[in-house]
Amino acid sequence: MARRAPILDWYARHGRHDLPWRATRDRWAVLTSEVMLHQTQVARVERAWPEFLARFPTPAAMADAGPAAVIRAWDRLGYPRRARHLHDAAVVIAATGWPDDLRTLPGVGRYTAAAVAAQADDADVPAIDVNIRRVVQRVVGGRLGDRAAEDAMIRVGAPLRGRDRLLALMDVGALLCRARDPQCGACPLRRRCATRGPLPDEGTRRQGAFRGSFRERRGRVMAALRAGPTPSAELDAEALASLVADGLAVVRGGRARLPG
Ligand code: ADE
Repeated sequence: MARRAPILDWYARHGRHDLPWRATRDRWAVLTSEVMLHQTQVARVERAWPEFLARFPTPAAMADAGPAAVIRAWDRLGYPRRARHLHDAAVVIAATGWPDDLRTLPGVGRYTAAAVAAQADDADVPAIDVNIRRVVQRVVGGRLGDRAAEDAMIRVGAPLRGRDRLLALMDVGALLCRARDPQCGACPLRRRCATRGPLPDEGTRRQGAFRGSFRERRGRVMAALRAGPTPSAELDAEALASLVADGLAVVRGGRARLPG
């Protein structure tokens, strides 16, 4: 009899099945979790997501609340453009329903569209984020473009499909095949892995320092606007201009505020 694929047992035993967003197949709930997880650590999203979803349980609830309420509720998760996009996506979904191609929604790219379809609908589509790319590149032993990485994901994750393939490979990437200090001894993909560790030219891209960054300056202006309308003369003009350009602030009569 063929040997049962090690990834099946590993995922059943060690997968992060208790993450709160894994208990739902609701598209809206999954989309909000994916948008948060895109640039925020899992532990922070675990704390923030349940309350956020309770506040905006449906696209209609978020569309009705308006962008300022969503940006405020996003609070300090960072990269608040995501909150603006999510609100704008909610407006579209509330008005016309879910589009066939989720990539037509504001802020939804190739990865997010596929990740939502796989998790909510168990669609048998591959989805490549940085962690899954790292896993499949290490297993095949070389750098891969998007399409090649998607093909490799299907092979590497077999016999899993759809939702389980996505989540199992995500968990291998998060728990074992980490950027630094990979745990190859415990890895279910070890026997077929070409590198058993980082690729020679992998490098590790780290997020740039926050302190002293433009992101920090934008964050300070956002904190002021979350507290209430503020004379624009009191704010960092360059940071404010970039927030206005992103739809995260409006200036009227010399005062800046969240968009209403
Ligand atoms: N990162 C992106 N999507 C995720 C998910 N569903 N579970 C854990 N981490 C993730």
